[in-house]
Amino acid sequence: MMMMSLRCYPVLGTKILSISLLSSSSSSSSSHNSKSSHINLPHPEPEEDSPLSGLECVMMDYIFGKKKATQVAHSVWKHVVQKGDTVVDATCGNGYDTLAMLNMVSDKSHSGRVYAMDIQETALKNTMSLLDGLCEKEMVKLFATCHSKMEEVVPRGVTVRLVAFNLGYLPGGDKTVITKSETTLLGMEAATRIVAAGGVISMMVYVGHPGGMEEYEMVEGFASGLPVDKWICCKLQMLNRPLAPILLFLCRR
Ligand SMILES: C[S@@+](CC[C@H](N)C(=O)[O-])C[C@H]1O[C@@H](n2cnc3c(N)ncnc32)[C@H](O)[C@@H]1O
Repeated sequence: MMMMSLRCYPVLGTKILSISLLSSSSSSSSSHNSKSSHINLPHPEPEEDSPLSGLECVMMDYIFGKKKATQVAHSVWKHVVQKGDTVVDATCGNGYDTLAMLNMVSDKSHSGRVYAMDIQETALKNTMSLLDGLCEKEMVKLFATCHSKMEEVVPRGVTVRLVAFNLGYLPGGDKTVITKSETTLLGMEAATRIVAAGGVISMMVYVGHPGGMEEYEMVEGFASGLPVDKWICCKLQMLNRPLAPILLFLCRR
């Protein structure tokens, strides 16, 4: 299970974040060199009573290279998903996203639901074994199906707060089995039909494998074309790490 350690940064000027900056050893260019020096910069404090304070910390750590895009995704989900909600994991893989979602929807009455799917038997087995032993696991419904068919597994009329795609291949699995632009597009279209107002479609896109860049271009193109009166679409991307995963959020107004 991915543990999220949220570090908050109290009081501007009283607590500091240490940042390593590169310094020039041989050339006049100060931006590309191998030695580092440490300077201490003040780090603003999130408002204690802000509902977004945890997210602010994760975002700051992402910006400074200390948190991964997956951790940002989970943090954003946490601010959208409520106990008892229905959510969809469109690519359950090894089950880490499914487990994170289960923790978000899990409620005393067990009315929360995670509809999770994958086309690979190995992925479903890995997800099942990750959930094994949890009494809340009955809230997870696993399906051996393509995400383009998500409307066939999510009961009609249910309010879906989150649909999450984590694209590419199964980590530790067969790298030739990857999500494909054509079915990802169908899956995204289905997601736009089932996600409720105030809900989110979260897209984690990997570009380092064959076909990944084309898939990313499709995802970005689809998100860019959604009507602005119904959708707010944005992305987080590391500009100088061209193979880093790109995170997109499609938020239903
Ligand atoms: C990057 S992994 C997902 C990681 C997962 N979310 C986790 O937390 O471990 C991508 C997964 O997408 C699955 N996949 C590929 N094509 C799919 C499709 N059309 N529908 C559903 N899952 C698919 C792969 O089998 C693989 O397990």
